Amino acid sequence: MYVCSCFGVTEEQVRGHAAAGARTPRRLAAECRAGTDCGSCVRRIQGLLSRIEPTPAPAVPAPPPVAVEPAAPAPSRHASPLPV
Ligand code: FES
Repeated sequence: MYVCSCFGVTEEQVRGHAAAGARTPRRLAAECRAGTDCGSCVRRIQGLLSRIEPTPAPAVPAPPPVAVEPAAPAPSRHASPLPV
């Protein structure tokens, strides 16, 4: 079903743009021009966008393990401070 008849934008296209990140009428207009001519579809676009569930953010992968070099042995408390 058409949402924006001026530009022939369908609900399915709006959902597709929303899934790609266009979650506001302004961002949607930047993608497909819907709502930028007569403006009679803007409220419908707002309603449609408000009913679309936000997509969960992709999981952030854990950073790779960092190689830790073994610590230098601590000086012995019993060693003589004098050179050998
Ligand atoms: S119907 Fe969308 S701008 Fe006219």
